[in-house]
Amino acid sequence: MRSLLILPAVIALLATVDAEAGARQALLDGFATQAKAADSGFAGFSASRGENLFRTSFAGGKPDTPACTVCHTPSPLKQGETRAGKPIEPMALSASPDRYGDPKKVAKWFRRNCKSVLGRECTAPEKGDFITFMTGQ
Ligand code: HEC
Repeated sequence: MRSLLILPAVIALLATVDAEAGARQALLDGFATQAKAADSGFAGFSASRGENLFRTSFAGGKPDTPACTVCHTPSPLKQGETRAGKPIEPMALSASPDRYGDPKKVAKWFRRNCKSVLGRECTAPEKGDFITFMTGQ
């Protein structure tokens, strides 16, 4: 009897996980379409380029945030911290399973963080590379 009661909860949970996976894939597909439109030679996203973006120190942004790792720590598996000291859940999908499932949230934070770190918005290939890296972590 008890398993019958648990079943709807399990189904609801699986449906949520599935919807987020679908949203994540749709987001990546969108970035790939934009990347191809800008460069017909675009050959797919790269986790190692994404890792590079994550770890590189840039000179064009705000002086106190030269790299993504300033707030997100060098480990995608670790909890980060805002400049004000508020905790940020880890960026790796394995550690934070609802990451990159909400397109509005993804767009908002890429815009804000890329401007702070690079002094410009990230390109579609950069965003796709970054998510590809983090979803593999
Ligand atoms: C000044 C601190 C700070 C820096 C630097 C920073 N971030 Fe973030 N980032 C945050 C905060 C705060 C959030 C929102 C809280 C959360 O998602 O847990 C966030 C969220 C995100 C998200 C949304 C993830 C999701 O769940 O959808 C992405 C994508 C992201 N950051 C990418 C980057 C990239 C790429 C860089 C480097 C170019 C970067 N961040 C640098 C503070 C920072």
